[in-house]
Amino acid sequence: MSTSGGGELRRVLSSLAGVVDGDEPIDEFSHALQCASLALRAGARPELLAAALFHDVGRAEAVRADCPKLPHETAGARWLEPRLGERVAWLVAAHVPAKVYLVSADESYFHGLSRASVASLARQRDREPNLEQMALHPWWPDALRLRRWDDAAKVPGAPTASIDELLAYVGKTCSRSTARVRRS
Ligand SMILES: [Fe+2]
Repeated sequence: MSTSGGGELRRVLSSLAGVVDGDEPIDEFSHALQCASLALRAGARPELLAAALFHDVGRAEAVRADCPKLPHETAGARWLEPRLGERVAWLVAAHVPAKVYLVSADESYFHGLSRASVASLARQRDREPNLEQMALHPWWPDALRLRRWDDAAKVPGAPTASIDELLAYVGKTCSRSTARVRRS
């Protein structure tokens, strides 16, 4: 991860402190750390961990300014693609379709959703016409894993890894993306 790129990622992620989605019990910064810490504990590879850490970055003011009027998952994916690569961006874009898919595929899943997540479901359903096709994508199983960590990462005061530790993993993803760009 370049110093400037890493600094920007840290700054924008940190700007989620105090940003709360609906009536969720924790802010988006704590939610991001919790989600990525669950990925870390599960042994996720760096790109999946990066997607877990940045999956809601589309709610940051800087990203909304860059990508106005887009749903947060699409805005986040567009902002992340040049910074962390295609796979991270795809997983971030897929975390809302994954929720819609799991609601229809797993009856018990719906009952574990937070109130804010249930409230947003109807409009998210309306914009997910290609779920069956997405579910055939080779990265789809990781999107489902990310989604379940996302739903579990809403516990006030839950212990997490530090932002430094998590960004160190993300740095491995950045290095690979940079290498790919240099080769092409
Ligand atoms: Fe989330």
